[in-house]
Parts: sequence; C-alpha cells; structure tokens
Amino acid sequence: MCGIIGYTGKKEAGAIMLDALELLEYRGYDSAGIALSAEAGGEPKLLKRAGRVKDLRTLCAENDTSGTCGIGHTRWATHGGVCDENAHPHRFGKVTIIHNGIIENYRELTEKYGLEDKLCSQTDSEVVAAVLSRFYEGDPYAAIRKTVLKLKGTFALAILFDDIPGKIFAVRNVSPIVAASTGDGAILSSDVAAIVPFTNQYFVVPEFHVVCLSKDRIELFDLSGDKACIDWLTVDWDVSRSDKGGYPFYMEKEIMEQPQVIGDTIMPRIKEGKPDFSAEGIPDNILSDCKRICVIACGTAMHAGLVGKSLIQAMIGIHVDVVMASEFMYNDPVVDKETLVIAISQSGETIDTLEALKFARKCGSPTISIVNVKGASIARASEYVIYTCAGPEIAVASTKAYTTQLAVLYLLTARMAMARGLWTKEKLTAYMKELMRVPKVIEEVLLRKDEIHHIADTMLNARDVFMIGRGLDYSILLEGSLKLKEVSYIHSEAYASGELKHGTIALITEETPVIAVVTQDKLKSKELSNIKEVQSRGAKVILLIKGEEQIEQEKIWYRIFRLPVMADEFMVMPASVVLQLIAYYVSADKGLDVDKPRNLAKVVTVE
Ligand code: M6R
Repeated sequence: MCGIIGYTGKKEAGAIMLDALELLEYRGYDSAGIALSAEAGGEPKLLKRAGRVKDLRTLCAENDTSGTCGIGHTRWATHGGVCDENAHPHRFGKVTIIHNGIIENYRELTEKYGLEDKLCSQTDSEVVAAVLSRFYEGDPYAAIRKTVLKLKGTFALAILFDDIPGKIFAVRNVSPIVAASTGDGAILSSDVAAIVPFTNQYFVVPEFHVVCLSKDRIELFDLSGDKACIDWLTVDWDVSRSDKGGYPFYMEKEIMEQPQVIGDTIMPRIKEGKPDFSAEGIPDNILSDCKRICVIACGTAMHAGLVGKSLIQAMIGIHVDVVMASEFMYNDPVVDKETLVIAISQSGETIDTLEALKFARKCGSPTISIVNVKGASIARASEYVIYTCAGPEIAVASTKAYTTQLAVLYLLTARMAMARGLWTKEKLTAYMKELMRVPKVIEEVLLRKDEIHHIADTMLNARDVFMIGRGLDYSILLEGSLKLKEVSYIHSEAYASGELKHGTIALITEETPVIAVVTQDKLKSKELSNIKEVQSRGAKVILLIKGEEQIEQEKIWYRIFRLPVMADEFMVMPASVVLQLIAYYVSADKGLDVDKPRNLAKVVTVE
C-alpha cells in the first residue's frame, strides 16, 4: 500500500513524479505529496495535500516546482486520518522521507526519543524521520543503519538529506522498492509500473540494503557499508499496456484483454499438446509425491484457489485446503514436507501471503507461487514460481489476474495428473484441447457485452444481491459477489444454494435480485430446486446457465444468460467473465470511480 517514487536527473522532477504518482495511485489514494530537493542544498520544497493526485497537481500548478531531484508519495492511510498533515513527505531536522509500510514500535520510539511534542502528524512515518534526524551527523549510511536497526515492522523508505542535494537514499524491509537508470538520471518506485515509461531494465532493492540514486549512477550497499551487486531484471510489458487503450476505465480494458492474456499464459506452457513447466524448473516429483495441497492467498487470488481445490480434488483425488493467508498463522497451521504449498498473488507483495509462504518454507513444505509481477517478494520467497502473463493490472478490482491464475491452475492440475500417471492419453488430450479453447470462448462472451449490460441495469437500485450455486458454481460466485460489492457498493453475498434455507433465505424478498449459476450437469437438478425455493419467496432470479440446457417455464426467469458450452470443469471461465462485466456495468452506470473504489488499494502490504 502507498505508492512511492523518487527521481534525480536532468529533467524536471516535479512533472515526472506527478505522472508516476498517477500510475501508482492504485496503491492508495487518500492523499499525495512531493518534496523537491533544493539544488544548492537546504530545505526541500514540500507540497502535499489530502485527496487525489489530481488535487496535488492543482497545488503544484499554483507553486514553483522547479528542481531535478525529488521524492513523491500517494497514501493509503493506516496511522493517522486523512488530512494534509498526515500526507507524506514528512520532514524532521535535515531529513525528509516518504514511507510505505507500518512501523509497529512507533510509540516506543516516540517515547524513547522524547518526540511527543515535536511531531506535526499522527503518523508512524514521521517518527522515522525524527529518529533518522537524530542519528544524522553527516553520514547518511550510518544514520540509515542505526535507524533501521531500531525499527520494528515493514518499511520502504526514500530519503532526502538537506545537505546532500541531488541524491536520494532508500532502504526497505518487506515493502518493495525497485530502481532503474532512466538514461538521463535514476528513478526508484514501489512498482515497476512507474519505471516502464523510462526503461525495461530494473532491479529490486534487496531487503536491508541501502540504495543511493545520483544523477549519474546508482549504488547499492549492504547495511555494513559494503558495496553489493545489482541483480538486473527485464520487464516484459511495454508502456502502452499501462494506459486505458480508449476504454473509460482500466477495469473494462482488463476484462477485454482476457482472451489475449489467458492465451499468453497457457500457450508457452503447452508442448506437444501437454502441460509443461520445464521453463519454471518444476520437477514432476513435487507434483506426484505430495500427500496434500495447501493454497494460501487473499481475496480474489484465494477465490482462484477455491476453483483449484475443486479441480484438483475432483481430478487428482488428493485433499486440498484453501486458507485465507491472513488467518493462516493464527490457526496453528499444519504443513509439512508432504504438503505442497501454493501461494497465489497478483502483486506478489501481499504481506499475509508472503508471511504464510515463509512459514511454510520453514516447515519444509515444497512451495510454488503463482504471481503476476516479475521479481515480486512472493516470487522470490518461493521455491518455484509460475508467472501469469496478465500484464499490468491497474484497476483495483482484479479480473484478468484471476482468470490467468485459473489458467495456471488448470495447467498444474493436468501436469499433476501426468506426473501421477492418472489420466489416459485421450483424457489428457481432450482436457488440453478444452483449455486451449478458453480464449475463444471468452471472446464469445465479450462479444455479448450489451446483453450483459442489460442484465446489470436490473441491479442498479438493488440494496442487496444474492448469488447462489453449488460446487464450482459456488466458488466462482464468491468471486462474482466480491467483484460486485467492491466496485458497486451494493451489498452482495454468495451462498451455496443448499445452505440458504439454514438461515439466509429469511433475507430474500421481492426486492432482492438473485443471480443463480447452473453449469454443472451433476448438480443441475438440485440447483434448480434451490432456485425454486427463492422464486417462491418472490426473488427475481437472473439465471446464468450452460448453453441450450432444457429448463422449464422460461418466463419464470427474470433474466437468462445462456453461457457458451464447455466441458463442465471449464465453465467457470465464461461464467466468471459474465459476473465481472455485471459488476463493472453496475459500477460505471452508477457513476462510481470504477478503478479506485473507496477505502481500497491494489497492493496490500500491511497485515
Ligand atoms: O496481489 P494479490 O493477488 O495478493 O491481492 C490479494 C487481494 O488483495 C486481491 O485479490 C483483492 O481481493 C482484489 N483486488 C479484489 O478485486
């Protein structure tokens, strides 16, 4: 959470930082600010305010923002409310900082260094500026070393010292920082998204290392002051992938990109018609020897895990647990050498997933992560990594990351079946053929977006929406419901249809739209009976059903959407896309800020 940027070079830093902060705004959008280093040394120019980056832009337009070195921040509030004083950068003595993360011992530090009356904000971050300032006696490295050794918690810090103009120092623990050379200078950021407009070469600043950006070089040191080697990485998407491409919102663009990115994710991993993870170096024995699987993830990524669970249990016959990463550590997790742990994360930075993964590794579990962002912390903390090829996902609501995670889980299931010698050649061929059809089938759904838009229109004034289904249908409804509530602010719940009558059916009235998904042949008759139960209570049922399935009395349905036909286990793909589009259209038609729903942030780096 919180986006950070720093630039030093030949160009105007103010303009570069404002553009970058717009790209980073998905990390948090409560307030924003920049500090411009004074060319001849002395106090930097600080401009910050509560609100969006566009509000900061207005403030900058009213002020002098000349200068070629600066740091900037967009905030997701944790400690201290949303106000100008709590916006970053924070300044103390000769030190100006921006911070992403949480300093858990900020109260102790405040007390220890007698800062109670000296701070201007309620943030944990300002305390770091004060401690740094206390230790700063002209040697930035010594001050940074002494400070970080006092900090408990997570941090990515970018720092300006008044008497070292033109240089930016940065250090981190857990929270990410990447850095790169821009040709005319150097840049650092919380995300590669801000770096891609300048270069495709970057590196991840290792934890507890200090990076120093000057106009003509980048230097990296470990905490004892020894020079460290830089491990360069290449971004494989270009800048055009981070714009809206003519769509009003990133969410729509990202939904529309799914046929392409699912193809990009699966096709390079299919060799001679078979799933292949040799490029990732994943040995078959990891997939064949495990006695159980534990998936750890949060939010949408966890919902992808739930689909994976149904698939693997049904097709491989081994037990799969899907655990919310944020709860994993608090439930005495039982994972061992025989448990394959799969971490799923778009950003690769979700702290709960990262901590759970590190714990699993300590327990000796083999680990595979499914991550979208190259070089992200979760990818690096795991034994093996499979990258989804979704490209940059900017909308806070995850769409294409989810379906590419599903695509990887389909491939893994097939590889696991091969490694265990479970399927006949014919079964594998049929399954892989169906998987390769997914992009085309999703394209068919996207071509029917107007039809889906009409369905969404029926929900614009709803207070609650229920979603019901069984088995795989229930798993995807959990995601469909999350999508609807996060972008439209309509209360929505996904319920296993058989569970409704154990309490929740009390909430169904004539005013309640109910989305029912029926795609699994073996569950169809039970699902249809459950639907009748809500229809009898007056609910307006919107039915998503597979193809030309026969259903009685078409007119009892409020709306029907017939999904393109695939084998049952693949029906989640077209059905998910319909649910994504429903959420999108409801939000857009309500005039909401679809890409930046209130209170949320794209990358969740606090526990
Ligand atoms: O980056 P991650 O996939 O680890 O993020 C996990 C969740 O925060 C994320 O999936 C979240 O639920 C979605 N943005 C919601 O659309």
